[in-house]
Amino acid sequence: MAARVTVRDVLQMKERGEKICLVTAYDYTSARLLDDAGVPVLLVGDSLGMVVLGHSSTIPVTLDDMIHHGRAVTRGTRLALVVIDLPFMTYNVNVEQALTSAARVIQETYAQAVKIEGGEPVAPAVERLVQCGIPVMGHLGLTPQAIHQLGGFRAQGRSAVAAKALLADALLLQEAGAFAIVLEAVPPEVARIITQRLRIPTIGIGAGPHCDGQVQVFHDIFGLFSDFLPKHTKRFAEVGDVIAQATARYMAEVRSGTFPTAAHAPRMDPSELAALEAHLGVPAEAP
Ligand code: KIV
Repeated sequence: MAARVTVRDVLQMKERGEKICLVTAYDYTSARLLDDAGVPVLLVGDSLGMVVLGHSSTIPVTLDDMIHHGRAVTRGTRLALVVIDLPFMTYNVNVEQALTSAARVIQETYAQAVKIEGGEPVAPAVERLVQCGIPVMGHLGLTPQAIHQLGGFRAQGRSAVAAKALLADALLLQEAGAFAIVLEAVPPEVARIITQRLRIPTIGIGAGPHCDGQVQVFHDIFGLFSDFLPKHTKRFAEVGDVIAQATARYMAEVRSGTFPTAAHAPRMDPSELAALEAHLGVPAEAP
């Protein structure tokens, strides 16, 4: 039987030059579909605040939300490495807070790793988590938990100074022990330079083709989220349209009486029906 993907496997994929594919998952069903399809790494992103819970940002997401969804995702996987986001302000107060939050996530969900946003300020937390045996994925560039500071969902690292700062942060996270780093919404040239300078894999989203891997949001690539279409995404299916068409067919059949049929309900032995009718003194209505 094949074994679950580990963080060592992810590092070896970079060494072999094998592109690493990640997709977000938020529940048992999506996790099963992606795991069965062979996606090696599933990310329970705090993007669930937007695409599952309907918030306008990831900021309202709580640690309990992540644990609730993370447990469902790990129940749906056999082979994928599961990484769970630590949400807003659950790791930024101090290293102890980061450790307590990450420990809850790992112990209560059975996931294999956590992801945290930010560079230099979170490097001590990354180091401590890794020392305690908790693998950490970093996240640089557009860090959605900092949108108020960044002035919205804006591309990052577009000036030489900003790109140098991103590279410095990436090197710090690597030294702190991160096993991979998400680069979100940074110019491909900058992502290429960072990717070339790191031993650990970079995982791009809106960062061009040179990263060691790519991550995309489930609802974006399968056409399930229509509030807005981020520039970094591509629709690989229009599942939302399929659901709309199927819903219309379902309602038409219920209204016309063609669904359900006798085949969609349990059968009653005719002798039991006869006994019931005898008891009631009237023939029961035909099903
Ligand atoms: O929350 C999330 O889904 C993410 C990815 C988009 C990288 O952080």
